[in-house]
Formats: sequence, structure tokens, C-alpha cells
Amino acid sequence: MTDNNDTSDATPEEEGRVPKRVIGTPPPVGTQELLPRDEPGEGSSGYVLDENKARSAERVAAAFFMLTFVAGIAFIVFYAVWPGHVGNIQRATRSNYTLGIALTLVFLGLAVGLTIWVRSLVTTKEIVQERHAISSRAEDRETFNQYLLEGSQETGLGHRRLLRRTLLLAAAPLGLLPLVLLRDLGPLPEKKLRHTAWKNGTRLVVDGTGLPLKAADFNSPGGIITVVPEGAEDNLDEIATGAVLLLNLPVDRLKIKKGRENWNVGGIVAYSKICTHVGCPAALYEQTTHHILCPCHQSTFDALDSAKVIFGPAARPLPQLPIGVDSEGYLVAKSDFTEPVGPSFWERGRPKA
Ligand code: FES
Repeated sequence: MTDNNDTSDATPEEEGRVPKRVIGTPPPVGTQELLPRDEPGEGSSGYVLDENKARSAERVAAAFFMLTFVAGIAFIVFYAVWPGHVGNIQRATRSNYTLGIALTLVFLGLAVGLTIWVRSLVTTKEIVQERHAISSRAEDRETFNQYLLEGSQETGLGHRRLLRRTLLLAAAPLGLLPLVLLRDLGPLPEKKLRHTAWKNGTRLVVDGTGLPLKAADFNSPGGIITVVPEGAEDNLDEIATGAVLLLNLPVDRLKIKKGRENWNVGGIVAYSKICTHVGCPAALYEQTTHHILCPCHQSTFDALDSAKVIFGPAARPLPQLPIGVDSEGYLVAKSDFTEPVGPSFWERGRPKA
């Protein structure tokens, strides 16, 4: 950089403002050159290429471009002949891996080839852009200082001590506000998330109306309804952990887990509505396949098979609530959930019972 416009009397060196190299910045460009310099002169590119090294670099770059080509063809072939969007989950997973690896090789080959090309084969011309000195002239700095002082006098900040001090006092809490927000990081939920409002004998009431439900009232096959614990209809905290999906499933198709034989009432089953991924309400139901879907990240649970995960990021099934009927025929819980409800990461805040 050349300084040809600086009209200040003092040089940067005289003012003690000599630019220094800051730790972490690249070294001067002269020490970074990869190619030997040509003799300066008319028509000179500034650098000369070693033709032998250039040819070998060309071959390596070409090999990477070939890799890109082959991987690109492989991607198209895999996508056309082995489409993962049809078939089962295992097939979709294998297809995703294969397509991902092919695409990685496409971009990797292209990036490495281009890098070798640019670093080893492209010569560069040195271009100098003339600029004026970055620092202001001495009289400009003097004028600025003068304006600053005058402005300070005019505001009265210098001699109106009461005003200045109360302003500083008013601003002090602003600095503390971010620290106050840190409090929201804790405390850990501990036992609060371990239990819900369900317990033996609690009636299932319809969310919204608060009406208890008899098995006979819920007899349409493929039916689905959200229920909450009786007595907790207006308690949002309790509903947040205790909301349950009630489904009427074909009893002959239920795959009942050992120990859960008495957890349904003639095919009516109850699952936690809180997705075990990150806690969205898993409230979409596909009547023909009996799949429960979470709209947030598409986790899919098989309602016929203890709500086990068949697709998506959720790591565990929706917990099942054991249900039965009371003496008046109303649907009731037989106990609380036997495992924690909600996102798997909630469990980290829970001490062992
Ligand atoms: S919260 Fe349900 S899939 Fe993410």
C-alpha cells in the first residue's frame, strides 16, 4: 500500500501508531507465495510454473474430478434403481446412507480438485491499490476533540453531578438483567417430572369438556380423543405432563407386551400425548395404519405395538397408561405411568426413585 495523499505533518511512526501484526492474522503476503516469482517486466505474470510439478498437479486434480463424475453417476443410479422412499424403514435408512456417501464424494472430489488446481496451477498477478493513510490528519483529530468537549459542556454532564449520578444509577440494573435471566437455567426439575396427576382410580375426562367417559361412549373403531386426569382439567402444569391419547383399536390386532395384558379395555388403549423426542403433542393419527404421528419432526409410533417408534428421531415409545373401568363403568387409570413421560432428556434431571 502506498501513501501518496497524506497531508499530515507527523508520520505514523512519529506518532507512535506504527501498525503492528496482530497475533492470529496471516503473515505478510510475501511469505505465503507457493510459486517462484518471475522477473518483473512487460508481459510478466509475476510467477513461473515448474512444468513438471504442474503436470503432476494436473493429473491429481483430474483424478479427483473423475471421482466426482463416478460418484455423481452412482448417486443417480442409486436414486433411480433403489429409491428409499418406497419400502420399509430399513431400506430407507440404507438408501439414505448410500445417497449421502455418494453426494459426499461428489463434493469432496470437486473441492479437492479445485483446491489443487488453484494452489498449484493458477498464477497470479500482483495488483497494488493506492490508498490514503488510514489515520485522520492531526488537525481533524484536534477538531474532533474540541467538538467532543464542547458537546460535553453543552449537555451539562460535566458540572451537573446530580443528573450524572442518577443517570449512572438508572443504567446500573441494565447490566445485571442478563445475569437475572440465567436463573431460568435452573433448578433441575428433579422429582417434579417423575410423576403425573394420574393415580389408581382417576377418571379419564375429555379435554375441553371435562366429561368423564364410559367405554360404551367410545366404541367407534379407529376413534381417538384427548383425555386428562379428572380434577386437573384447569391445571396447565398437570395437563402438560398428564395429557393422554385414547384410541379405540381392533383388539385382535393388538401386540400386547408381557405384563400389559390388563392395560386396555376391549381394545381401548391410552398413550402419553407428549412426544418422547422433544415434547410436542403427538396428536396426528392415521386410522388405516394405526400410526400416531408427531407433527414437529415426523416421529411415528405404532399404536398397535405399544406405541413403539417406527420412524423419526424419537428414541423411545410413548409411555402407556394402564386403564380399566370403575364400578359405574367409567374409564379410569389403574396407576400413574410406569415410566417417565416426555422427552428423553427430561430424565437426566431426575434422580433415581
Ligand atoms: S417432538 Fe415429536 S418428533 Fe420431535
